[in-house]
Amino acid sequence: MKKLAVVVLAAGQGTRMKSDLAKVLHPILGQPLIMYPIGTALALGAERTVVVTGVQAEPVRAALAKSGVVFAAQKEQRGTGHAVMAALPALKGFEGDVLVLYGDGPCWRPETAESLLAIHRRKKADLSLVTVHLPQPSGFGRIIRDQRGRVTAIIEQKDCSPEQFDLTESNPGMYVYDSKFLRAALPRLKTDNAQQEYYLTDLVGIAVGDGRKVESHLLEDRDETIGVNSREDLAHAAAVLRGRINRRHLAAGVTLEDPGEIVIEPRAQIGRDTVIEADARLLGFTVIGAGCVIEAAARITDSVIGDGCRVDAGCRLDRARLAPGVHIKQGCVLEDCEVEEGVEFGPMSRIRPGSVIGRDVKVGNFVEFKKAQIGPGTKVAHLSYIGDAEIGRNVNVGCGFITCNYDGVVKSKTVVEDDVFIGSDSQAVAPVVIRRGAYIGSGSTITREIPADSLALTRSALVVKEGWATKKRASKKAKGPGKVKGKR
Ligand code: UD1
Ligand code: CA
Repeated sequence: MKKLAVVVLAAGQGTRMKSDLAKVLHPILGQPLIMYPIGTALALGAERTVVVTGVQAEPVRAALAKSGVVFAAQKEQRGTGHAVMAALPALKGFEGDVLVLYGDGPCWRPETAESLLAIHRRKKADLSLVTVHLPQPSGFGRIIRDQRGRVTAIIEQKDCSPEQFDLTESNPGMYVYDSKFLRAALPRLKTDNAQQEYYLTDLVGIAVGDGRKVESHLLEDRDETIGVNSREDLAHAAAVLRGRINRRHLAAGVTLEDPGEIVIEPRAQIGRDTVIEADARLLGFTVIGAGCVIEAAARITDSVIGDGCRVDAGCRLDRARLAPGVHIKQGCVLEDCEVEEGVEFGPMSRIRPGSVIGRDVKVGNFVEFKKAQIGPGTKVAHLSYIGDAEIGRNVNVGCGFITCNYDGVVKSKTVVEDDVFIGSDSQAVAPVVIRRGAYIGSGSTITREIPADSLALTRSALVVKEGWATKKRASKKAKGPGKVKGKR
C-alpha cells in the first residue's frame, strides 16, 4: 500500500476573524480549531503530518508542540499553493499520497478522508478532491466540469464569470495528490488571478491539461465543509461539532434534556442512564459514571464521577474525583479533591485543593475545606472553615468551627482525632491537637493539646442583671426623643 503524508495549511492571517489570536487557535469545545484537521490526519495513520505556519507561527507551534506534527515555515503568505510549496522540504524523501487540508476546516469526519483516499487509490488518480453542492457557496471556489461530467478546474469566487458564480458545486478543500505529480506541478502555478496569489486549486487545471487522472468524491453532508473565516463560521462549526458529540451520547443511552443547550467536549465520557440537564458543561477529560444526574448549569472539568452520583444545579467541579453515590447539592464548588462513597455536600460548600473526604461524611452549607482530610462518618453540618487539618472518624463538628491555621506568617496544622465532639462556635488555634473522644464546649478557643476523653472549655463568667432592661427603657421615655447630631 502507498504511504500517506498529510499537509495542513495554517499560515494565513485570518483577517476576517478580527482577532489578535491566530485564526486556527480559536478554540472549539476546548481545543484549538487546528486540532480537528490534525485529528483527522492522525486517525488516517499518516506517517508524517506537516503543518505550515506563517503569521503567528510561534503560538501555533507552541499549541501543537505535543501533537507529533512537524512544521514548515511559509514566510510570506502568497496563497494556498505557495503554502504547499513551503511544505515540500518537510516532505523530502517521501513517496506516496499527500492529503492536503486547510487548518480552518474543523468539521471533517475522518471517514470522508478515508473515502477520498480509497477512491484515489482504487482509480490510481494523480489528484482527487472532495466536492459539495452548496445553495449559497459564498467564498468557495466553484467546481467546473466538462460535458462528460469530469472535473476540469476550480475557479475561485473572485475570478468567476457571472455563469461560474451561479454554480453551486463547490470546493470544500480536501485533496489527495500523488507526491510525484505534486512536486512536478507546484512550480508551474502562476499568480495571474484576482488575488495575485498562488492558488492550490489551480493544480486541478494543470493536471487535466496534462491528461492526468483527476477524481472527485461528492459529499452529501454540507456541515463537514464549513471553513472558519469569521466568528459566525466559528459559532456554526462549534454547533455542528457539539451536535455530533451529543448525538453520539444519546445513541449510547445518555439522556440529554435539551441537547442544543448542553456542551460536552470531545474527550468526556458518560455512562448509561445518566441524565444531563440543560446548560450543563462537561469539559476536558471528564468521566461520568452510569445512572448519574447532572443538573442544570453544572460545570464539570477534568473530573471523575462514580456511578449513581448527583450533581445539583449550578455546581462547579474541577479535577474532583468522586466515588459512587456522592451527592453534591446546589451551588457547591469542588476543586482538586478526592471524595469517597456516600458523601453529601452543600448546598453551598466549597472544597479547595488537597482535600480528601472519607465515606459517608456530611458537609453542610457554607463549609469550606482546604487541604483537609476528613475521616469517614464525620459531620460538618454548617458554617465552618477547616484548613490544613486532619479530622478523624465520626467527629461531630458543631456550627461555626474554625481552624485558625495562619498566624500571618506560617500555616499550621490542626489534628482532631476520632470520636471528638466540637461544640458550636469554637476555634482551634493551630498547631494544635485534640485527642480521641474529647469534648470541646461551645464557644471555646483551643490553644493547646486536649487530652483524650477530656472536656475542654473556655468561659468568661456569665453576668445577669435582673430588671436592667426595664429600667433602661423607662429612663429613655422620660428624656424624650434624642437629638439628632450633625447635619442631615
Ligand atoms: C480556500 C480555497 C477555496 C475553497 C475554500 C474552502 C484556494 C485558493 N481557495 O479559499 O477554493 O473553497 O478554501 O474553505 O485554495 N493559508 C496559508 N498560506 C497562505 C494562504 C492561506 O497557509 O498563503 C492557509 C490559511 O491559514 C487557511 C487555509 O490556507 O487555513 C485556507 O486559506 P483561506 O485564505 O481561508 O482560503 P479561502 O479563501 O477560504
Ligand atoms: Ca477559508
